[in-house]
Amino acid sequence: MTSDRNESSLPPSYFDDMYEKNHDPWEFRSRWYEERKRALTLAALPKPTYRNAFEPGCSIGVLTEALATRCNRVLATDVADSALASARTRLADVAGVELRRWALGDTWPDERFDLIVISEVGYYLDLHALRTACDDAVDHAEFGATVVFVHWRHPVADYPMTGDEVHAVAHSTGGLVPLARYSDEDVIIDVFVVGHGMPTSVARAGGLV
Ligand SMILES: C[S@@+](CC[C@H](N)C(=O)[O-])C[C@H]1O[C@@H](n2cnc3c(N)ncnc32)[C@H](O)[C@@H]1O
Repeated sequence: MTSDRNESSLPPSYFDDMYEKNHDPWEFRSRWYEERKRALTLAALPKPTYRNAFEPGCSIGVLTEALATRCNRVLATDVADSALASARTRLADVAGVELRRWALGDTWPDERFDLIVISEVGYYLDLHALRTACDDAVDHAEFGATVVFVHWRHPVADYPMTGDEVHAVAHSTGGLVPLARYSDEDVIIDVFVVGHGMPTSVARAGGLV
């Protein structure tokens, strides 16, 4: 990492300031880029449905709402109260969604998930915190769970890590077995299975090969 990079995890106040200026700073509701990325993310998930999903950094809940169509329950968290308030309004009528103020970097909830979605949140953590978060994800995943990472690839001066660096850390995490990758100039999506010996072929899992 270069020396002029921010080397500490970004604090909640950084995001509070963003949401004070704009309720949807990334324009999740209106940008085709975001809509397409959500579709790619959902399409990359190897299982049709999940029992218990975890989405740290849910912002105003647009991805959360999409995940809820494939999951019995989604626990979604954020560090910005204002984003959580918007998510609460958006998801009021969506069954199975629980919203909580919680930071990736805090002690994880005492439960196991069969889907963990680290989407556009890994690069707010410093390297040490991110490595710990990846290990925590494995420790809080069911055997055979899906863990998906999704990040913007262009450098952002304020962020401690780039998207590609986040994905390199994910790939170096013990227990995360690569299943699929999509990348283009802008976005990288990596899908992992937790636990060696689990099928990484969707066709094999479905008995086609
Ligand atoms: C770019 S949005 C991602 C929204 C959604 N996950 C997606 O990919 O569409 C990032 C969100 O992460 C939140 N955030 C920042 N640091 C966080 C942390 N350590 N733990 C949880 N959320 C965090 C921010 O407040 C912001 O709402």
